[in-house]
Amino acid sequence: MHQIKTICVCGAGTMGSGIAQLCAASGYDTLLFDLNHDALVKSGQAITERWQGQVEKNKISQNDLHAYKNNLRFSSNINDCKADLVIEAIIERASAKVDLFQQLAAINPINTLFVSNTSSISINQIAAKLEDPFRFAGMHFFNPATLMQLVELVKADQTSEAMIKLLQTFVQSLGKTSVICKDSPGFIVNRVARPYYLESLRMLEQGTADLATIDQALEATGFKMGPFKLMDLIGIDINYSVSNIVWDALGKPIRLQPSPIQQQKIELQELGRKTEKGFYSYPKK
Ligand SMILES: NC(=O)c1ccc[n+]([C@@H]2O[C@H](COP(=O)([O-])OP(=O)(O)OC[C@H]3O[C@@H](n4cnc5c(N)ncnc54)[C@H](O)[C@@H]3O)[C@@H](O)[C@H]2O)c1
Repeated sequence: MHQIKTICVCGAGTMGSGIAQLCAASGYDTLLFDLNHDALVKSGQAITERWQGQVEKNKISQNDLHAYKNNLRFSSNINDCKADLVIEAIIERASAKVDLFQQLAAINPINTLFVSNTSSISINQIAAKLEDPFRFAGMHFFNPATLMQLVELVKADQTSEAMIKLLQTFVQSLGKTSVICKDSPGFIVNRVARPYYLESLRMLEQGTADLATIDQALEATGFKMGPFKLMDLIGIDINYSVSNIVWDALGKPIRLQPSPIQQQKIELQELGRKTEKGFYSYPKK
């Protein structure tokens, strides 16, 4: 296996945009791929705005901005997705991820490494459908990827040690901290965090307090964001899907059962910040 110099990030949504921004700003030649052209345009604008904001605050120079922009390309053509490391951050559906990895394996050389940013799908389950599972692992960033320090590296049964070492070095080069864990439902953080969301939703269902009060209470105890603000940031659809997958994988314990409130929000397409309405409203500026 070789050094990582070029990156392809697949999926230009909440996570892919942040990860691509991070990679480009860390000096990697980065391609951001999404099937949806509008998602790419939106992502490009958001990334530029965030970098521009850093220039205005004197955190980076105009030269940095120029270099970062030069490092980042966008494409909706899968044939452009050739890189040393492919980071997948598309929809949280196993079949879609497998399909994408299979297409990418066919157009990339044997030493290309593939990782999934999935929050909850089993890395072994995806690996089982790939021809070369030794070069596949989980690389789980947290939201917002540019700011959150932790990256979980998830080792599937057949992930090679050499790959894990390369990924550790790569994560370090992004200025982040990695932890390694075995493939298991929700990995480390999402499993521990499940009751934070689900118990809060349960309290809302039972009328214990309104959601702003629950957020206020948790924030006052030291949590950076209350559960409802956090679900809006993550995306209620993503959070619901993770809840379901973890619940299912752990044998459907009552205490981790997803909430009908999550389902109702999805039916209304009130998904959080990305749709300008979730538990709270986020009017366009
Ligand atoms: N949202 C979070 O807080 C969070 C945190 C950590 C990990 N994740 C994981 O990251 C992944 C992406 O989540 P997100 O919140 O960024 O989702 P999102 O809905 O914001 O974005 C997903 C993007 O993927 C694109 N897409 C879908 N299918 C595609 C395909 N076949 N090829 C290329 N692009 C495709 C969509 O057009 C969309 O732009 C999921 O696996 C999720 O579990 C999410």
